Amino acid sequence: MTNDDSSRTSVAEPSAQASPAKRAAVAVGVTIAATAGAMLVLGDAAYLWVKAVHVIAIISWMAGMLYLPRLFIYHCEAGVGSPQSETFKVMERRLLQIIINPAMIVSWVLGLWLAWSAGYFSDGWFHAKLALALALSGVHGYFSASVRAFAEDRNSKTARHWRIMNEVPTLLMIGIVILVIVKPF
Ligand code: HEM
Repeated sequence: MTNDDSSRTSVAEPSAQASPAKRAAVAVGVTIAATAGAMLVLGDAAYLWVKAVHVIAIISWMAGMLYLPRLFIYHCEAGVGSPQSETFKVMERRLLQIIINPAMIVSWVLGLWLAWSAGYFSDGWFHAKLALALALSGVHGYFSASVRAFAEDRNSKTARHWRIMNEVPTLLMIGIVILVIVKPF
């Protein structure tokens, strides 16, 4: 084995990390504390600042949700045990853990705070947005399980399946953005 080979293999090995539940709890705690701080310091202006951070988190969440199935398409085409396959495993795990999961948590915590703060919980458009956001979170869960399946070399889905799945977050995003901006009902 060359030096290059050994460094590639070591990157693919899972490192000692906090559990997903612990990381999620920390992300929720930090987001709630930062929002409470913004309310104290900014007063009425906090709503717009929180909304700005909500949109930034949504952009990060969507970027990951659009890129991950694209990685799955390429991963399907790499042979099991090949160096490319091992590299895709690392890319998928890092994209999920470093970008997609924290961005989803921040989006949910701030989105619910915005809705509570503005009294949107009884509005029709908000119910519809919530339903589509839940569907997007379901797709997130499916992608997350698929990262584990790819990591254990037990993906059974074709590249065509991932090409179709690639469009689902886009369609949900279009619906959500129209609902929250146009507020048609
Ligand atoms: C995860 C659950 C979510 C909740 C509870 C939530 C809730 C909210 C609320 C209450 C607002 C403030 C609306 C206003 O002030 O008019 C908002 C703004 C916004 N949300 Fe979300 N949201 C969520 C997810 C998403 C997703 C998935 C997207 C896009 C894919 C999105 C895109 C936006 C945009 C673009 C705005 C700014 C709208 C404006 O200022 O006109 N949200 N969200």
